[in-house]
Amino acid sequence: MIIKNICCIGAGYVGGPTMTVIANKNPNVKITVVDLNHARINAWNDPDVNNIPIYEPGLSKLVENARGKNLFFSTDVDKAIHEAEMIFISVNTPTKTYGKGKGMAADLKYIELCARQIARIATSDKIVVEKSTLPVRTAQALKAILDHTGNGVKFQILSNPEFLAEGTAVQDLLSPDRVLIGGEQSEEGIEAIQALVDIYASWVPLERILRTNVWSSELSKLTANAFLAQRVSSINAISELCEATGADVDEVSKAIGMDSRIGPKFLKASVGFGGSCFQKDILNLVYIAKTYGLNEVADYWEQVIIMNDHQKGRFADKIVSTLYNTVSGKKIAFLGWAFKKDTNDTRESAAIYVADALLHEQAEITVYDPKVTAEQIYADLDYLNLRSPEENRKYVKVVNDPYEACKAAHAVAILTEWDEFKTYNWKKVYDAVIKPAFLFDGRSILNADQLSAIGFKYTGIGK
Ligand code: NAD
Ligand code: UGA
Repeated sequence: MIIKNICCIGAGYVGGPTMTVIANKNPNVKITVVDLNHARINAWNDPDVNNIPIYEPGLSKLVENARGKNLFFSTDVDKAIHEAEMIFISVNTPTKTYGKGKGMAADLKYIELCARQIARIATSDKIVVEKSTLPVRTAQALKAILDHTGNGVKFQILSNPEFLAEGTAVQDLLSPDRVLIGGEQSEEGIEAIQALVDIYASWVPLERILRTNVWSSELSKLTANAFLAQRVSSINAISELCEATGADVDEVSKAIGMDSRIGPKFLKASVGFGGSCFQKDILNLVYIAKTYGLNEVADYWEQVIIMNDHQKGRFADKIVSTLYNTVSGKKIAFLGWAFKKDTNDTRESAAIYVADALLHEQAEITVYDPKVTAEQIYADLDYLNLRSPEENRKYVKVVNDPYEACKAAHAVAILTEWDEFKTYNWKKVYDAVIKPAFLFDGRSILNADQLSAIGFKYTGIGK
């Protein structure tokens, strides 16, 4: 089967970059990315390609190459569904905030709405691709909805989870470690899998395209994120032990990472992992395990989240205890708000929770982040629903200049590992802050010896 028209529902962090790369690599396939969010679609269509809604290194250039040729962004969901032979579902699957499974299970209402819309609109056979991260066996529910439309259209459902990381999305998409495609093991299923393989094979070597059954594919995505997050929580647990014993966590990471069985990646101790997916996907895994009565399995994975919450809280506690047990009325400068460098995404960022803990202690916070807007920072704080919007704006200031953020601060805290922080004139910062000059490096990116030589009281993670 040759695919000529693709529709992708959801123009977010996954749908936008993924379809941009597929469009660049398949100039003969027309790709329409649709979303209900008009502002987001308008931003994707902005004549100035620097205004696209997602910041990812290298993305704007690729959008410019394909947009208006074979890549389109639109709010006309029905039309795009109607035209496509293959439909990717790339909508958000957040943690449920109500009802059964509240705080744990994935909220599949957006997925179900997509399935019902596809069922309503489709008049020809379609391949429906799960791109969103979903609980294992979701494809069964999708199939049940799609197969009961009564209009005789045949659907094949594939699972094709996305493994890109934000900040390196383009690079990850252009050169993926693997592409995973799960499908039904029937003649039609195998044909559908092949159609998707052909799209990826335009640039991904065949040996990196893995074919599995649907359930393995769905579960592999949750498992990959759980393993990655577990490494971060594991090294963060060791960071606390390092602080108690005089070991240095970066030295420990290096020493264990050189063991080829362990490997060096994802062993950087930090103020805690953030991002839209690690926590939500582990909670989802825990919920699924509990649903099957596998309580030991659930407890095992839940510990990864418990450790991460502890790490965020412990960083805030350390600031308070170091500042003579009170930050009330003191200015704390935050460098960084994004959940990691090279992205403007702040979802579940550790900075939000550290800020909350310090506000609870009546601190005043000034934030500088190279890519996150003041509007987003206030939205994150308002979303906590713990203080009024007026209080958030009164006690948290957002500035466009890092030196201004640090001016007359009682402490400077690094929350995101932006490269630019390494090259600041730290002597200038030192001269501007209140002494003793406390610096809390939540990412251990600065040179402790050099900063101490300037006069800072430097505290890294796991040192
Ligand atoms: P996102 O919130 O950035 O984007 C989702 C988009 O879907 C939103 O713009 C929303 O308006 C749109 N949408 C929701 N329902 C819709 C509907 N019925 N019709 C049309 N549009 C609709 O989310 P994201 O970060 O792109 O994540 C999407 C999925 O991919 C999630 O399941 C996530 O777990 C998974 N994932 C995310 C990443 C990542 O780095 N962010 C990586 C891998 C996988
Ligand atoms: C993660 C996975 O890496 C992707 O493979 C996956 O597709 C994605 O989740 C998803 O499903 O959404 P992402 O969250 O974008 O990607 O970013 P990561 O690089 O994994 O970082 C996650 C968090 O862990 C960040 O806050 C980062 O600072 C932190 N981290 C990461 C550490 O604290 N230490 C490390 O060694 C690595």
